[in-house]
Amino acid sequence: MRVLGIESSCDESAAAVVEDGRLLLSQAVASQADLHARFGGIVPEVASRQHLLEFLPVLQKTIEGAGGWGAIDAVAVTRGPGLAGSLLVGFNLAKALAFARRLPFVGIHHLEGHLYANWIQGGQWDGEARKPPPFPSVALIVSGGHTDLVYVEGHGRYRLLGRTRDDAAGEAFDKAARLLGLGFPGGPPVERAAREARQPVTFPRPTLRDGSDDFSFSGLKTAVLRAVEERKGTTALTAEQVTDLAAGFQRVVVDTLTEKLVKVVRDTGAQAALLSGGVAANGALRQEVIRRSPVPVWCPRPALCTDNGVMIATCAYFRLQAGLRHGWDLDVQPNLPLVS
Ligand code: KG4
Ligand code: ZN
Repeated sequence: MRVLGIESSCDESAAAVVEDGRLLLSQAVASQADLHARFGGIVPEVASRQHLLEFLPVLQKTIEGAGGWGAIDAVAVTRGPGLAGSLLVGFNLAKALAFARRLPFVGIHHLEGHLYANWIQGGQWDGEARKPPPFPSVALIVSGGHTDLVYVEGHGRYRLLGRTRDDAAGEAFDKAARLLGLGFPGGPPVERAAREARQPVTFPRPTLRDGSDDFSFSGLKTAVLRAVEERKGTTALTAEQVTDLAAGFQRVVVDTLTEKLVKVVRDTGAQAALLSGGVAANGALRQEVIRRSPVPVWCPRPALCTDNGVMIATCAYFRLQAGLRHGWDLDVQPNLPLVS
């Protein structure tokens, strides 16, 4: 079965065709990152208007790459969570395509899509041919809007073990980058800067006193702000200060995420640790998780960690196999929970 997946929850207009939830046939992504960079963050109305301009070329490239419309058996699209105006563009496009081509239609949870990037054949960070991940496993889904630790019992069967109480990990990267003058989105430039550091700044580790497996990153953001103010005075930060601050920040985020992930893997007896979402593109996080995990680690290559249509098509295959079909009355849900 060949599924067309469409993703428009944030600032990437993306589409892909995947066969049997494993084999990537074609894909295209138009990123709006440069457009939003000058605002220092995503401007929702700008994002939805840009989706309107980008989607048809993205779709055309994807369908041509897969061998034409005759090859498509179903249409899937991100239903939420995400920005309402952005979601609506991809969602209505997908609905109209499924309607016109008389194909099955399914709405997919964006975070569940991120998780399924680990199912793509040859899609792992090291390019190794691997089997699909085993069950049960624990997934760390780290994106711009979410930081969730999820127990994955089987396809579509999840239990939420922990989540952020304030900023998401990606949001923390974006905010730290802004404080350090590193641009938007913040993850990639913070990672690059951290590699150049000589003496990473020591920041306090966030601790939640209730012993839960939740996260909190807002205190770290404040600590970075104070450290920047202390060093800055009336002049700009030096390049060396920026790299040392970036490395200190990244170290705390990586340590905190890794420690909790490893703890819940042990607590639950899971057979694998799965990384996914934009922050999983971070090499320092991936290396630390691989170093400390007691079980094998799956992590998609960076382009499959950030938003894409491949993960939506892949996830949809397993939902379709389980009999899921949505009707024309389905709407987007900007706050759609993963586990209700
Ligand atoms: O999953 P994603 O593409 O979109 C959402 O669903 O939010 O994640 C975007 C987030 C941004 O906050 C971005 O700064 C972060 O992922 N990110 C990274 C890296 N690449 C992207 N964070 C850390 N290191 C990276 N290399
Ligand atoms: Zn995402």
